[in-house]
Amino acid sequence: METPTTRIQGELPISEVKQFFTAGSSGDFETLYRQVNRQALAPFFRSYLSTNSVILDAGCGRGDLATQLQLHHPYCIDLVFEQLCQSRRLDFIGSCVQSDLAYLPFEADTFDVVICANVLHYSGFIGLEELHRVTKSNGRLLLAFLERSDYTRWAIELAVCWGVFPPFMRDAVLLDISDLKKLNVIIEDSATVVYLPPWFMVSRTVPRTGLVVYVLRKTVSVN
Ligand SMILES: C[S@@+](CC[C@H](N)C(=O)[O-])C[C@H]1O[C@@H](n2cnc3c(N)ncnc32)[C@H](O)[C@@H]1O
Repeated sequence: METPTTRIQGELPISEVKQFFTAGSSGDFETLYRQVNRQALAPFFRSYLSTNSVILDAGCGRGDLATQLQLHHPYCIDLVFEQLCQSRRLDFIGSCVQSDLAYLPFEADTFDVVICANVLHYSGFIGLEELHRVTKSNGRLLLAFLERSDYTRWAIELAVCWGVFPPFMRDAVLLDISDLKKLNVIIEDSATVVYLPPWFMVSRTVPRTGLVVYVLRKTVSVN
């Protein structure tokens, strides 16, 4: 399906996001996410993966998290062709499709596991609904996103001022647990990513704020 290039994601213009990741100016930003993936997200998500699952990595970027998780032939989608090309170079990657998270070119109930890390702030709830749609009943969603809170807004502002985040991140669309509860899901696990220099790690005991991780199980809908 063709992605409307003028779509506004919450307050976030898709063209700016696309340009940022296409222009190769995302280097420092992606270095930061690589560290977060290696130290926090991959160890947290690993135990929720099983062999022979049909997996979607939505907003796969250059395939860093897929590499850390040693995924076996996952389907990968990303908005930005240049990012997908980097993923495609990795020999364990399955099919790569250029697509917007908000308009996934897959049938409902397709994947056993859907992974979406560090992307939902570009699409907001519309992207979350799409991820849920393509997940099989009883399948899992492994999500890492920026939780809606004053602390998160303050941390984003700081990261923009320090030049770690691009300025458009000020308009990031933040989700919280009330959004997850609008879907047919059970929350199996959750944690908060904390930074204790030089390490990122997950904590289940601190409040959910900043970058958070959730494991959701899609329940069978009863209409
Ligand atoms: C910070 S990177 C995260 C990459 C990967 N998930 C990871 O954690 O290593 C964000 C990625 O999301 C992609 N992206 C942004 N908005 C998107 C959208 N609406 N649909 C699909 N991908 C999107 C960007 O092109 C970029 O590759």
